[in-house]
Amino acid sequence: MPQSLTFTDNRNGKRYELPIMNGAIAAKSLQRMKVDQTDPGVVSYDPGYQNTATTISYITYVDGQQGILRYRGYPIEDLVGQSNYLEVAYLLILGELPSQTKNETWRNRILAQVELDPSIHRLIESFPPSAHPMGMLISALGALGTLHPESKQVLDPHVRQEQMYRILGQLPAIAAHCYGHTHGHKVPTADTSKGYIGNFLRMMHNFGLHEEEPNPAVQDAMNALFILHADHEQNCSTAVMRGIGSSHADPYSSMAGATAALYGPLHGGANEAVLAMLSAIQDTAAIPGFLDKVIKKEALLMGFGHRVYRNTDPRATLIKELAYEVFKVTGDNPLIDIAIELERAALNMEYFQERRLYPNVDFYSGIIYQALGIPAEYYTLLFALARSAGWLAHWSEQLDDPAQKIARPRQIYQGAVRRDFVPLAQR
Ligand code: SDX
Repeated sequence: MPQSLTFTDNRNGKRYELPIMNGAIAAKSLQRMKVDQTDPGVVSYDPGYQNTATTISYITYVDGQQGILRYRGYPIEDLVGQSNYLEVAYLLILGELPSQTKNETWRNRILAQVELDPSIHRLIESFPPSAHPMGMLISALGALGTLHPESKQVLDPHVRQEQMYRILGQLPAIAAHCYGHTHGHKVPTADTSKGYIGNFLRMMHNFGLHEEEPNPAVQDAMNALFILHADHEQNCSTAVMRGIGSSHADPYSSMAGATAALYGPLHGGANEAVLAMLSAIQDTAAIPGFLDKVIKKEALLMGFGHRVYRNTDPRATLIKELAYEVFKVTGDNPLIDIAIELERAALNMEYFQERRLYPNVDFYSGIIYQALGIPAEYYTLLFALARSAGWLAHWSEQLDDPAQKIARPRQIYQGAVRRDFVPLAQR
């Protein structure tokens, strides 16, 4: 059976044979379909890239029908149970699980980067204490690009690697200084002997737990949450990272853009929005009324739905299990009962069933963060810290891909045709 599609252009009877490779046709081959030499050719129209692959990637595999997520072929369930975030970052960026020596070197090079340039401290302190930390992170990333102009040599793999160490090492410190600034407390000096996540928790005062030493169960939970948020193939913010990176911008500027995309409530900002939604519902008795509003399109069920998953997001299942591990330390978060009843009720309603809407990664993560005493405005910042490994992996993969060009989509122009200028006096 030939792996191809045959098109007949009914405007002139011409026939075209298009090969199917990896389940796709090359959209550029549609350009051959013209009615005359002035015709620019047929263009594919796909708002939001709902059915358009912009790259061939080897990093993350998502099967939306089966609810499968694998990083470089390793099931997320295995990585959460047996690996740690820095090792997963190595896997995503370099393609293999590291040997012990490579793991040690990777870890040490990143942990050696935790000190921030004083100008970054001053930048963070220049914000009002009410500033949202995602806005502060976006600015800090842009500022890092100005401190390291050598990072513009994006085609030099050694220069690229140095920036990755710095970004992975400094983002937790930036988060800790944002938290210290917005909550008016001194940031503990880094103690990398506690490990990557342990040092981060310690610099964040273990959030609301206010313990000096990172609690092992909380550390394990945060490690798992970072792994679960580390990558998700061509999501909105990763597509932006690739888009900005395609112009050969430095990784800091590219990541500032990706962070801005993640900030949106339809993407990474959903975890913060889920907490606001659950808190507004307040009681399971209010769930039917809320779901009525959703069905009438007066509200979105935040934390539900996904462009790819037509089944439960495997991360949501794992995060729901993690919640109970955290509650053993923090005590139950009453919002979990509302979330569980909301999920149960929604999954039994035709509106959600016919649209294949299930809980996604953001539905339960906020409940854990709240139980840990993390302020809601920091939830998406945690998502950004974890996703930095995935953003860097895709940014780097794209730069090494000879098929890639600067991102410049086409459009279908439906605006005004040519018009003559009318001077102001005559308007
Ligand atoms: C993330 O892409 C990724 O991988 C992202 C992510 C990652 O790891 O990077 O997984 C992280 O961003 C998860 C998603 C977090 N966002 C939310 O939880 C916000 C709520 N969800 C929706 O906004 C929505 O489901 C999206 C944005 C996630 C997906 O949007 P799509 O694919 O464009 O789907 P759609 O908006 O076209 O919805 C199809 C239908 C519509 O109804 P009809 O027009 O057919 O009547 O489903 C409805 C939508 O109104 N719908 C919802 C809904 N999500 C979709 N209705 C109510 N509540 C929702 N949450």
